[in-house]
Amino acid sequence: MSLDSEDWHVETTHANVLLAMPDAIDQAARLLRRGGLVAFATETVYGLGADASSDAAVARIYEAKGRPRFNPLIIHVANFAQAEKYGIFNADGVKLAHAFWPGPLTLVTERRENAGLSSLATAGLPTVALRMPAHDTAQRLLMAAQRPLAAPSANRSGRVSATTAKHVAADFGASVDLILDSGPCTTGLESTIIGLGDGAPRLMRPGAIPREAIEAICGPLSAAEQSATPQSPGQLRSHYAPRARLRLNIAEADPGEPHLTFGPNGPRGRHALNLSASGNLVEAAANLFAFLRRLDALGPHSIAVMPIPLHGLGEAINDRLRRAAAPRDA
Ligand code: TXA
Ligand code: MG
Repeated sequence: MSLDSEDWHVETTHANVLLAMPDAIDQAARLLRRGGLVAFATETVYGLGADASSDAAVARIYEAKGRPRFNPLIIHVANFAQAEKYGIFNADGVKLAHAFWPGPLTLVTERRENAGLSSLATAGLPTVALRMPAHDTAQRLLMAAQRPLAAPSANRSGRVSATTAKHVAADFGASVDLILDSGPCTTGLESTIIGLGDGAPRLMRPGAIPREAIEAICGPLSAAEQSATPQSPGQLRSHYAPRARLRLNIAEADPGEPHLTFGPNGPRGRHALNLSASGNLVEAAANLFAFLRRLDALGPHSIAVMPIPLHGLGEAINDRLRRAAAPRDA
């Protein structure tokens, strides 16, 4: 296998993939209302969606992903009014939603009781993670389905997130009812998750909106405390992991070792992929998961990764790389 061609082979057996045109979106909405699983693009990564008001539909997400049931899902909504139906927003929550919605921000609020959400979707927690996505396909689907959609990233649990329909098909094949293909995701990194409670909002997962932009709206964020039982199981230590072992902060790879590089000084070679030759972190974020999947497909047992700066989107990129490099449980 080589990195020269774009058509590196993935197994996409029997997956039902349709371009996200109006008819396909209507079909997807009908499937969702009947309890089906539909993968769709958001501006961050592809999501694996199900009707968040149905325990049976949500159970299919956990099953398809192989996801532990203590790990709650993000509820996607069409507008702020729908978000308020499920969550109780404090002043910071209103400010942040106003500033960044629709967009790649997830707000964890106190959950409104008996609002009709599947308790499986929220893993029985007193809180709920809410997000109003900006991507046209996601918005049209939410409008057409007329349901809140529980949607984790559309990858097998613990593996690399999916930023194209092909990635989704490779992970799930026919176990998803329909994959809506909208091309590659523009941001390529999951939403930033902010916890709202007493005191300053907490950064629970760095993501597509840099900390600096959020702090400009609501002041300094407090850090999520690291506990053994993760409050945001995206905080599970090993996550976003390719099959190969990742070696971080490696400027020079071993001979023949796949190398994920960054910036104008990134070594070139047959086994190197540069996240952004100009050193642009936005471009690097968009390429991260797709490049990890491509290097992983080369087969060898390790992937070397060059240092990536920590500012802006670099915080979230480094977070994903650290988790991808963490020791595996299994
Ligand atoms: O960009 C994204 O956020 C994508 C797209 C599809 O919207 N979704 C996504 O979902 O990344 P997922 O399931 O891969 O990650 C959601 C994270 C998990 O780490 C989960 O533990 C956390 O959100 N989460 C969900 N509900 C929570 C809650 N009530 N409290 C704390 N963390 C929560
Ligand atoms: Mg995920």
